[in-house]
Amino acid sequence: MLVFAAALAAGAALSAGDGKAVRRAVYASTFPVGEGRAIADRACLLCHSASLTTQQAKDSTGWEKTLGQMEKWGVRLTPAEHDTLRHYLLTHYGARAK
Ligand code: HEC
Repeated sequence: MLVFAAALAAGAALSAGDGKAVRRAVYASTFPVGEGRAIADRACLLCHSASLTTQQAKDSTGWEKTLGQMEKWGVRLTPAEHDTLRHYLLTHYGARAK
């Protein structure tokens, strides 16, 4: 529990760097810069905010499942975009160390 609280505090301190963070801004509300951001901006903000994605930590299989689910729900991605996005999400929101 202490460790968890410390991690949250660290997250809050980090996002306060721009000087206009609000208390809830522990998770990023925009996608990080990188290959895949344009795809995420286009395909992943239609139904829910970016923070639903940025608060996750998944391994490759986990992101594959999520992307498959989102595609079933209507997200349109070419196979190349799908791969770029999975790699992008894995790079930024990969599984946390146990
Ligand atoms: C057609 C609407 C729609 C689009 C577009 C969409 N999503 Fe979702 N997504 C949903 C719904 C509905 C849920 C479930 C919301 C809930 O549980 O509150 C969800 C939940 C999620 C979750 C949390 C559940 C989980 O599997 O971890 C993640 C992460 C996620 N979406 C990522 C994405 C990404 C990445 C994209 C872009 C490729 C995307 N979504 C585009 C509808 C969409």
